[in-house]
Amino acid sequence: MTKNSTIHTLCLLLTVVVLVSCSRKEDKPAVVSSTSAFYNEQHRPQFHFSPKEHWMNDPNGMVYYQGEYHLFYQHYPEGNTWGPMHWGHAVSEDLIHWKHLSIALFPDSAGMIFSGSVVVDHQNVTGFGTADNPPLIAIYTVHNMEGEKSGRNDYQNQAIAYSADRGRTWTKYNGNPVLKNPGKKDFRDPKVFWHAPSQAWIMILAVGDHVELYRSTNLTSWTKSGDFGIDQGSHGGVWECPDLFPLQVDNGKQKWVMLVSLSDGGPNGGSGTQYFVGNFDGTGFTNDNPKDKILWIDYGRDNYAGVTWSNIPEGDGRTIFIGWMSNWKYANVVPTTVWRSANTLPRTVQLKETGDGLRLTSMPVSEFDSLALTSNEVTQQNISDSLDLSSTITALSTYELDVEISNADKTGFVIELQNEVNQKVVFGYSPSEGNRYYVDRLMAGKNDYSLNFPGKHYATRISSDTTVKLRMIVDRSSIEIFADGGLTVFTDLVFPDRVFSKLKIKSQGKPITLKSANVTAIDTIWKVE
Ligand code: FRU
Repeated sequence: MTKNSTIHTLCLLLTVVVLVSCSRKEDKPAVVSSTSAFYNEQHRPQFHFSPKEHWMNDPNGMVYYQGEYHLFYQHYPEGNTWGPMHWGHAVSEDLIHWKHLSIALFPDSAGMIFSGSVVVDHQNVTGFGTADNPPLIAIYTVHNMEGEKSGRNDYQNQAIAYSADRGRTWTKYNGNPVLKNPGKKDFRDPKVFWHAPSQAWIMILAVGDHVELYRSTNLTSWTKSGDFGIDQGSHGGVWECPDLFPLQVDNGKQKWVMLVSLSDGGPNGGSGTQYFVGNFDGTGFTNDNPKDKILWIDYGRDNYAGVTWSNIPEGDGRTIFIGWMSNWKYANVVPTTVWRSANTLPRTVQLKETGDGLRLTSMPVSEFDSLALTSNEVTQQNISDSLDLSSTITALSTYELDVEISNADKTGFVIELQNEVNQKVVFGYSPSEGNRYYVDRLMAGKNDYSLNFPGKHYATRISSDTTVKLRMIVDRSSIEIFADGGLTVFTDLVFPDRVFSKLKIKSQGKPITLKSANVTAIDTIWKVE
């Protein structure tokens, strides 16, 4: 065969392949093709942030600055499993479409760059910028591997770096560390915020089984002012990635919320994030709830190490959270190819009064609505057995289901997402069995890489509303469920071999009333490289 005829045969073969994939597209493709080959590998999230390639864990340093939302993240750029940590970097003008930037912070002889936060030094107290161009200051943990290996306890210290060019380049401060380890094995993940009433920067730090609070007026020297948690909440794992922020309550008062991620012992096993509601006076935090009351931000298994954006303009007023959509139980082995891990959708968090006290709600940021494509409305009806909504799902197979079921508190229901090879993920509500919601991903696709992955995740329903309102957001490898206005949330990864192209709502025994249902196709955010 000559070189030309080989090329000709290859072209023919290629044409056949293209035709086959085109004709499959007509009747919902097995693997959906979006507008380009970019971000289109199997299981690649279409509207969640994921690194272009290689490993990611915790979101870090989220800050809004000069029209851009910055997102940094724990990143190992040379492999698809956890390794020497860098800070990866991306920016967005709308919290939804992300532009990748070059790596912000690299490990050096002092150690790896672990989790932390970024603030805007508006007064330029550090002198690393100017009054007109206030610098961004990153406060992070330096983890010294040699120190750890040699059996020392003081291998995690807090350091800072600064940028005077909108986060594009960073310089490590030559007076690092700014907070030295006093000999505590776990001493990490500083989250810093400005506390106007006491005119100080506050750092909340995870220290094994508690958090510590530090104060500073210049971001370079820190004094301990309090600690919290040794006898509070859940201690199923080591405490990590804390956050502390105020939220307005309906009665016009303000409460403080503390987030604490736990490496293990989450509500359905593995990593999870608990929260406390109380007061902060600039030095210490007090919990409004009994010390053994455990509150979780999410009941799925894949929302970890989440914290909130800093410097959101007052006129906006939102508190915006994002989490790492994985779990240390299996994060390193999930079946993705060129990248590993994605983040949750950015979410607005609020405090709502319930019969049982104040509870944290999370809902996708409103900017997410800009991804809505065609919407199919289903008319009000009774479901005595099963309602098949598969025809409402477009070829993209990434969608949002909004549903209201009015008498579900008497009988319960299930919502089944299924694919052409009978893999399915099921959301259910069982009022008679402990008044619980659940997500069942036992048969949701690939799950042989870890015994810890398959499972059924439960949450006792918090709301007592007779109508169940759900927002269910389905990407290629995740499902996020916001029930009752975000009072109960599940974030769960799933790795189906084909997209979930079938959708059914089923009553359980007695008929249920579907008050409304809408299925909206969700666009990809990854159109241009
Ligand atoms: C949480 C965590 C942090 C640490 C980082 C290291 O997932 O363990 O405590 O800073 O990951 O990558």
